[in-house]
Amino acid sequence: MLKRKDIASLVLVFVVFGIQTCFSQNIGKASFPKGFVFGTDSSAFQVLKGTFQDQMIIALPVGKKPPPVPAWLVQTWPAGYCAASSTKCSKPTIPASFTIHGLWPIDNDGHVLNKVDDDGHSLPGRKLNRTQFKNLVLDYFPNLVKDLRKKWPSLIIESDEDFWLHEWDRHGRQQPVIQPSNYFFTTRDMAERTDLLNALKAKGIVPGHNLRYPIVDIENAITKKIGYKPLLLCYKTNTLSELVLCVDDAKAQKFAPCKEQKYPNLCAGPRIEFLSVITNGALVV
Ligand SMILES: *[C@@H]1O[C@H](CO)[C@@H](O)[C@H](O)[C@H]1NC(C)=O
Repeated sequence: MLKRKDIASLVLVFVVFGIQTCFSQNIGKASFPKGFVFGTDSSAFQVLKGTFQDQMIIALPVGKKPPPVPAWLVQTWPAGYCAASSTKCSKPTIPASFTIHGLWPIDNDGHVLNKVDDDGHSLPGRKLNRTQFKNLVLDYFPNLVKDLRKKWPSLIIESDEDFWLHEWDRHGRQQPVIQPSNYFFTTRDMAERTDLLNALKAKGIVPGHNLRYPIVDIENAITKKIGYKPLLLCYKTNTLSELVLCVDDAKAQKFAPCKEQKYPNLCAGPRIEFLSVITNGALVV
């Protein structure tokens, strides 16, 4: 006969595996209030946020906070990115706004995490194949997908979906505390808050040809909006390709100062181009 303690453990195992089944098979429609506690006396778990249905649930041992996920929020300036000779952009239309590249977890030194995996198991987060990605994220959140297509389009890889999956695979799952769908929601929401083009415009910095802006003016315009200085990346000499904001805690969506150090591709000033897109001979701003 099972002792009371064993039964309690079995219940917990059932609950925990039940949740995973819901996640992986997409059949979880249950909704639990924030603060809902399940488990046993000795190992209780509390729902901190969301529902099973939207997969935003974060179940943690009561009293434990999730560890912060420091990261780089990388946004691309497509005209400058595609102008770099090593970058072959595949789309006929180059977006005339900043687009999301990804949210890249970093280590204590501020370097982008680059844990290697050949077997698909050595990284903390789940490796997803296309089918799983479709089931867990794309099919589940059609409105998110619509949004990502505008704000997180692929510039190089043929399909947006493959690009998103690549970002999850290469960066999102370097740290364990972000669920795949959450990775995309968090990144989208953080990027939205930055509204880079308008932050620059507010300081008279608009894209153009044969125009060079002092790096310090670009930095100041972004600092005014976000509170922290960005890193500016130039893949072609003195042409803005990407803008990085450092994130102290991706879950809490907190920006932070970047660690001072030499990164490759940092723009070298004092002035850089902020290229506009040319379509059919006309400037698109
Ligand atoms: C994707 O992974 C699932 C679960 O491991 C597996 O059943 C499925 O066959 C895989 N699909 C492809 C296309 O590899």
